[in-house]
Amino acid sequence: MSGSSSGSYVVRFNLHQRVEHFITMVVFALLCLTGLPQKFYTHGWAQGLVHVFGGVDATRWIHRVCGLILAFSTVIHFGGAIAGMLSRKMGFTMVPSKKDFEDAIQQLRYYLGATDKHPQYDRYTYKEKFEYWGLVFGNVIMVITGFALFFPVQAASLLPGQIIPAAKVAHSNEGLMAFLVITVWHIFNAHLNPDVFPFDTSMFTGKVSRERYEHEHPLELARLEGRVPAEHGGAPAVHGKREVG
Ligand code: HEM
Repeated sequence: MSGSSSGSYVVRFNLHQRVEHFITMVVFALLCLTGLPQKFYTHGWAQGLVHVFGGVDATRWIHRVCGLILAFSTVIHFGGAIAGMLSRKMGFTMVPSKKDFEDAIQQLRYYLGATDKHPQYDRYTYKEKFEYWGLVFGNVIMVITGFALFFPVQAASLLPGQIIPAAKVAHSNEGLMAFLVITVWHIFNAHLNPDVFPFDTSMFTGKVSRERYEHEHPLELARLEGRVPAEHGGAPAVHGKREVG
């Protein structure tokens, strides 16, 4: 069960979440490897990649099949999240809250030395929520413009013809931005961040050490262990023989 503590580690992601991330990771990589060469078709590396995929037609079809998988997995993800929240099996953990804005300001003040109190995070930090909603809106733009490019005749029969070149510009540039955001921001957070360097395995094993969880998500850890968080006047968490916090 995700969100359970067993003394030395916390299960942060359940099997469903890990499989979903793995599918998104592979499909997104293939979409970039088959889409970006189409954008930069005059470059040697792009022609090389198209050759590897078996030529332009094969590259385009691999891109389209991956596009359909991304569209389908996006619908499944949202359907599951909305059903989970409506049936109260899932909390609104990803919905930005007032605390997220306060945490962002607090962290900035902490980095600037204006306070020595680092914000105490719950299940998802403001950065993780920002990244998640960036992916959500990016996916929606890529799927809608992708379908317009996939079915241009049908799209132009429903909407003004200018929608096709507009979809191409939006798709092409949002695609490049998505690639840059994932390779710079996400890879930093998941691999180069000093707290997890060289590799954050949590999205593959589902587990995070209790010590790291105490550092990164103290409010959720306190809730999982039935304690009042230190920030709300509770006793500091105990780790091994040493008082923490
Ligand atoms: C986040 C994922 C995606 C990325 C990074 C991406 C990237 C790209 C890029 C860079 C191009 C070339 C645009 C140009 O020529 O300048 C392209 C074309 C295209 N994309 Fe995507 N794309 C993604 C998702 C999708 C989805 C979800 C679909 C369909 C549902 C799709 C369908 C298409 C189509 C039909 C084209 C036109 C070229 C062709 O016919 O293959 N793409 N994509």
